[in-house]
Amino acid sequence: MTQRNIVLIGFMGSGKSMTSKSLGQLLKRPVFSTDAIIEKKEGKSIPEIFAKKGEAYFRNLERVVVDELAGKQGVIIDCGGGVVLNPTSMTRLKKNGAVFFLHASAESVYAQIKHDKNRPLVNVVNPLERIRQLMEDRQPLYEQADYIINADFKTIEEITKSVMEVLNDVE
Ligand code: S3P
Repeated sequence: MTQRNIVLIGFMGSGKSMTSKSLGQLLKRPVFSTDAIIEKKEGKSIPEIFAKKGEAYFRNLERVVVDELAGKQGVIIDCGGGVVLNPTSMTRLKKNGAVFFLHASAESVYAQIKHDKNRPLVNVVNPLERIRQLMEDRQPLYEQADYIINADFKTIEEITKSVMEVLNDVE
């Protein structure tokens, strides 16, 4: 029998990367991060890619990486926050994976990423305003997930536990 992937989506700073690692340890499954693979392929950090090649170039790389990862089986996929912008990527991820949306408020996200310069999209004069706007635009896209997990001001342990509860119920 084939094993479905576990896919984490959601806004930057909602806890996807840490939760993926924690799930990987608990379930003894390999973990892949779309951002880390893109950085490795390009030999550049995400902010450098955005600055030198632009967002459209990054999105194209992201689409290719998601396509590769979605074809795997039984792995955990930590997706960059903008993966949902590409409908084909979402279809691919859902086909062979349980997709979890880690849902956090703008305030919770801001608290996590305010000192982090690695998020070019929110490295602006008024980051909280920008986060609110992007979140509002993307909310319907994130809601295409199979499961919505409350990640608002939650610890990684709490988020991991919520995902595990769903997995124990459905898988
Ligand atoms: C982005 C989220 C980032 C990274 C890039 C763009 C987005 O990933 O892919 O900065 O569009 O939301 P994280 O969600 O892992 O921070």
